[in-house]
Amino acid sequence: MGEQPMKLYLDSADIPAVAPLLHTGLFEGVTTNPLILQRAGVAPAHLPTLVQELIDAGAGSVFVQAVESDTDEIVAEGRRIVALGSNVIVKVPATRQGFAATARLAHDGVPVLVTAVYHVRQAILANSAGAWGIAPYVGRMDDAGRDGLRQVEQMGAVLHGSETRVLAASIRNADVVHELALQHCDAVTMSTAVAEALFIDHLTDRAVAEFTEAARALT
Ligand code: E4P
Repeated sequence: MGEQPMKLYLDSADIPAVAPLLHTGLFEGVTTNPLILQRAGVAPAHLPTLVQELIDAGAGSVFVQAVESDTDEIVAEGRRIVALGSNVIVKVPATRQGFAATARLAHDGVPVLVTAVYHVRQAILANSAGAWGIAPYVGRMDDAGRDGLRQVEQMGAVLHGSETRVLAASIRNADVVHELALQHCDAVTMSTAVAEALFIDHLTDRAVAEFTEAARALT
């Protein structure tokens, strides 16, 4: 886990939903996966356009997932993905083949986020492969009866001082975001709905309404 404040990413391929959030200047980049692309109706042929649109909208980095399952094919796909732009990071699932492909891609200087991470031992493997980071699935771990936040904490401890970041994913609500920040997680990616929820506090709204009323009364 890093000493820096936790970085925020958006987990979406929905440009109209993502662009206003990127325009706030608070989000580092955008993560995608095949399910997210399917939901947004983005065909593989349109990936280059999507990546460019996200960068134009203010994404500092865009994550695109490899879908091949054989090591050689994942490596070839990873090279195609990273060629989509200078700030594109390849996501590779935490399978045996995925780890082997990550090691080869990382050796060539390709940044790889090992994704669909559910256990500390996968964090160890990702670090050994030279991964840019890991994406543990907090919500899905909770769904499966594991303690997602505890797992992420342990992964952070294992990776402390290494080059491999923890980018927590599968976030179900805004409370999980602050719990991750409290345990000094490096980064988190969240849906646009969770991101929008971060901005909401009814006490702030009430205070602002009072300030506005007072300011009006003075004029
Ligand atoms: C991001 O990298 C993950 O693919 C994503 O957060 C998974 O989230 P889900 O459990 O909501 O599908």
